[in-house]
Amino acid sequence: MADGDRPFGWGVVGFGWVARDYAVPGLLASGGRLAAVFDPDAEAQRLAGEMGATAHPTLDALLRDPAVEAIYVATPNHLHRAAVEAAAAAGVPVLCEKPMAATLTDAEAMAAAVERAGVLYGTAFDQRHHPAHVALREAIRGGLIGTVTAVRIAYCCWLGREWTSLPGHGNWRADAAQAGGGALMDLAPHGLDLTQFLLEEPVVEVVAMTQRRVQDYAVDDGAVILGRTASGVLLQQHNSYNCPDALPRRRLEVLGSRGQVVAENTMGQTAGGTLTHTDAAGVVAALPFGDQDVSPFARQMAAFAAAARGAPHDFSGARDIATMRLLHQAYASDPRCR
Ligand SMILES: NC(=O)c1ccc[n+]([C@@H]2O[C@H](COP(=O)([O-])OP(=O)(O)OC[C@H]3O[C@@H](n4cnc5c(N)ncnc54)[C@H](O)[C@@H]3O)[C@@H](O)[C@H]2O)c1
Repeated sequence: MADGDRPFGWGVVGFGWVARDYAVPGLLASGGRLAAVFDPDAEAQRLAGEMGATAHPTLDALLRDPAVEAIYVATPNHLHRAAVEAAAAAGVPVLCEKPMAATLTDAEAMAAAVERAGVLYGTAFDQRHHPAHVALREAIRGGLIGTVTAVRIAYCCWLGREWTSLPGHGNWRADAAQAGGGALMDLAPHGLDLTQFLLEEPVVEVVAMTQRRVQDYAVDDGAVILGRTASGVLLQQHNSYNCPDALPRRRLEVLGSRGQVVAENTMGQTAGGTLTHTDAAGVVAALPFGDQDVSPFARQMAAFAAAARGAPHDFSGARDIATMRLLHQAYASDPRCR
């Protein structure tokens, strides 16, 4: 059977919220197969078995499983490094959740490990694969809004101290040692990467101000980042854990010398949302995009599977380490975080 006819075999390391609710449905929707799981949690192992996947007792056993063509890492952030380094040593392609790691040191080690081993690596920036964002990039490239001047992002949510994605697990996101930071560390990677994807150029400098305003934990529950791209586009990004989920909280604006596009409810894990274009005369119109029902995760898993089987791709550890450096630079710029 040719590669293209055989469902792609995924191994999942960390079978929690994002893996169960988004990545695995996405890989199945894109014609892949959940071959195996490694997760120390008994409930995760039970669910993996129910789905016909092998629940391996160790990461090494999963990496040796011939049915596993690539792994998807969705553990808490401080555990990304060990999984990625093990995959690199085993020669297994690895798609790892954002942020790349809890610390820049870990991320640098991961990038070096995959580079040394020549193993395909990608950080799971699913929002690059959202059909609205793909259409928006094409529109910008085609000159719809003229010279791009600024990107403004609000990407916020509510995360209380007691929040947990899995019964019996603590809230690792509120623990700096496990998460590497708070709302900025968790949510800003998406906007930084998406800006670079949309504009097809790097963000080269950032500063930030963080707050601990509403939630009673030690990591930041809000942050504003100001940034600039290589060609001089300005970025203004607000991320927070202190915005009730029922409020408008997912908005992306791209402004140019001849118009602007506003994307509402496209940032996030789900399909859909809207794009609205306003031209320089003030005429407002919807900017249509296809695949309204296709989740960014389905497209992401399909793209990585194809890359692992040799298709052209733009996954890059070098690019993702640059985004990780920006997060580090953002925290370092805030006197409250020094
Ligand atoms: N791309 C996105 O939109 C998005 C959304 C949510 C989470 N994430 C990222 O995904 C990752 C996981 O987040 P989550 O919300 O699913 O967390 P979670 O707590 O729901 O799940 C983590 C899972 O990892 C397992 N685990 C713990 N130690 C492990 C180990 N040593 N080896 C293997 N598995 C282990 C836990 O048992 C749990 O099942 C984080 O890096 C997070 O930032 C990304």
